[in-house]
Amino acid sequence: MAFGWIDEQAAARHRAGLVRTLRPRPADSPLLDLASNDYLGLARHPEITEGAADAARRWGGGSTGSRLVTGTTELHGELERELAAFCGFEAALVFSSGYAANLAAVTALAPHGSLIVSDAGNHASLIDGCRLARGTTQVVGHADPEAVRKALGTGGGPAVVVSDTVFSVDGDAAPLVELGAACREFGAGLLVDDAHGLGVLGDGGRGAPYAAGLAGAPDVVATVTLSKSLGSQGGAVLGPARVIDHLVNAARTFIFDTGLAPAATGAALAALRLLRREPERAARAREVATELHTRLTASGLEAVRPDAAVVSVRAPSPEQAVRWAADCRAAGLAVGCFRPPSVPDGISRLRLTARADLTDGQLDRAVRVIGETRP
Ligand SMILES: Cc1ncc(COP(=O)(O)O)c(C=O)c1O
Repeated sequence: MAFGWIDEQAAARHRAGLVRTLRPRPADSPLLDLASNDYLGLARHPEITEGAADAARRWGGGSTGSRLVTGTTELHGELERELAAFCGFEAALVFSSGYAANLAAVTALAPHGSLIVSDAGNHASLIDGCRLARGTTQVVGHADPEAVRKALGTGGGPAVVVSDTVFSVDGDAAPLVELGAACREFGAGLLVDDAHGLGVLGDGGRGAPYAAGLAGAPDVVATVTLSKSLGSQGGAVLGPARVIDHLVNAARTFIFDTGLAPAATGAALAALRLLRREPERAARAREVATELHTRLTASGLEAVRPDAAVVSVRAPSPEQAVRWAADCRAAGLAVGCFRPPSVPDGISRLRLTARADLTDGQLDRAVRVIGETRP
């Protein structure tokens, strides 16, 4: 029977306790949210929703075509200029998602005959970029600049080192300064995904490359998402103007994709302007993450020390992680639950996100619920 193998895969997933299901979120959910990536609490901020509504009224519901045909609006240009300037890069190009931005950056910067050196803990979108690219990928140990050096030593042609800045599963940071030095030593490019750094790390949330002194360097390219700290949707690649021009001509997820929707562009632009005006939001997100980690470990839970706004708590097994998250939900707390195959090391976790707008009382409640429901 056609697709019969799907049932076998589904049965195996059931046996392993790894079935995923969709749960609709009501607009007025009563749950305390430590699951979303809305790190600065901007997704529902009136300036951001108004930015989205204004843009949709002016430019329409969709951008009507590929950026190269009909889809480039003045709004895209404004967002690209302001985002590049804020993060310290020469130029930027926005995409319909961070996922598309990562596919674009990896594939366009790793031509046939090139070497890609990729951290074992990288996000799925970088991994998929490596799979699609014409270059050859070497996966190296997590956050290990020596392993990167060793891998770069094996290549003869162009090379690019690819890494998350803040890893999405455990919330730990990559050794960016050391990676930058290793790349320079070997004449390689450095491509970093700052999805979890923008809005949280660096002066006023300018991101991890800015904090590491790498923003604007001729051999450094960063990708970001507009869907986390900026409370919108979409992604961008930031880098030297010649790299951005190359992407316009070579990146298939730019050329063959409808441009970022006006509402998402307007919302991201409004969020960026708000962040420039209220830079303390970035520091507050980091402070909440540290406080959350301190309280969780004080109550005996095994949590990874956060380098940005993601706090990861270990669970004994995938089934117990799922039950733990469900028990939290039943007690009024939304938490993320990461388990294989989304986690490269096979360890299941609760994934908590610290939002800049969480109050002390909400933190107390979250830690109490997580402690009381632990398996
Ligand atoms: C590290 C990282 N990169 C890229 C993405 C993809 O971004 P987007 O959701 O905008 O497609 C995500 C999360 O979704 C992420 O965590």
